[in-house]
Amino acid sequence: MSTQNKVALVVGAQGVIGRNLVDHLASLGDWQVIGLSRRPGETRPRVTHIAVDLLDADDCRRKLGELGHITHIFYAAYQDRPTWAELVPPNLAMLVNVVDAVEPVARGLRHVSLMQGYTVYGAHLGPFKTPARESDPGHMPPEFNVDQQRFLEDRQQGKAWNWSAIRPSVVCGFALGNPMNLAMVIAVYAAISKELGVPLRFPGKPGAYDSLIEMTDAGLLAKATVWAATDERCANQAFNINNGDLFRWREMWPKIARFFDLDVGPPLPMSLGAVMADKAPLWERMTRTHGLEPHAYQEVSSWGFGDFVFSWDYDMFADGSKARRFGFHEYVETEAMFLQIFEDFRRRRIIP
Ligand SMILES: NC(=O)c1ccc[n+]([C@@H]2O[C@H](COP(=O)([O-])OP(=O)(O)OC[C@H]3O[C@@H](n4cnc5c(N)ncnc54)[C@H](OP(=O)(O)O)[C@@H]3O)[C@@H](O)[C@H]2O)c1
Repeated sequence: MSTQNKVALVVGAQGVIGRNLVDHLASLGDWQVIGLSRRPGETRPRVTHIAVDLLDADDCRRKLGELGHITHIFYAAYQDRPTWAELVPPNLAMLVNVVDAVEPVARGLRHVSLMQGYTVYGAHLGPFKTPARESDPGHMPPEFNVDQQRFLEDRQQGKAWNWSAIRPSVVCGFALGNPMNLAMVIAVYAAISKELGVPLRFPGKPGAYDSLIEMTDAGLLAKATVWAATDERCANQAFNINNGDLFRWREMWPKIARFFDLDVGPPLPMSLGAVMADKAPLWERMTRTHGLEPHAYQEVSSWGFGDFVFSWDYDMFADGSKARRFGFHEYVETEAMFLQIFEDFRRRRIIP
């Protein structure tokens, strides 16, 4: 394909995954990138942004129905809901609305990339088979990632485009105002612990401190996502994408504490959602006294997600070797990733 006609539609461009994907595509130099989200986004060389409500099929047709030059759709939008069942309708509808609007006009469409997660393996339900493999059997619905993949498989029949499904672990990177952002949870929890003069105490379930877990760096994920969307061997395939190393919080927590110049206290199971609920006034004071960017407390809080991740008192990892067998060999050292992301948050004046 000539460099002129590689046009990426990044759906969910303000998310922890979508933002990093836009940046990566823009850095490659041979892509035009169009980002989508409800919030406005920045326009810069090779990147434009369209504010659209993906839940509104008419809005999608109006704003996306003229994007005949799209060659690749990278789908990473997400609507949060309180239950697994309630997640299905909006998350399926947004994907359907995008494909319904773009597919009929984008005659050169080559690929639809779908961002999934380990929920495909039932990781959210309880101790699941590890390492999880792409070929593992399905489980009892509801699970929106599975419905989204089934929709794409059906829609792709007889078409010139193909799809890939990317399955990361917990994704770590920069984003604001998103419901699943573990690095931000840890960074803000640590900053507030320091402000209050208390040690860094692991807030999760006792068993979670010693279980094996892995992360996926958002930058690594972006590279893998573009690789899978452009390497023909990956057509209509799913891939686990993770950093490539495992850890236990028992070992990682003191390293995180050291970064923040904090002592480590014994683990203390608590609901972050509950104990951090009253910290907005403190955060506002901290933004003033430490000269931070004035982000609202809500923008840097995804305590419910922190509680979810720290409740995993069972191993949480998947086999990443299929991607390597198919040709993707990059990896990230997770300890270095955490520290770099915290440094990045400091540079952006999000934490002291
Ligand atoms: N974060 C993780 O740790 C993680 C781990 C594994 C898998 N995943 C999966 O990866 C996918 C993306 O997750 P994420 O964490 O990157 O999500 P996210 O940070 O919440 O980002 C979601 C994106 O979708 C956009 N969006 C939501 N509703 C929209 C609407 N009605 N119209 C237009 N845009 C809309 C949001 O922007 P606006 O709010 O401005 O509209 C945002 O850009 C999800 O399927 C998630 O399950 C995430």
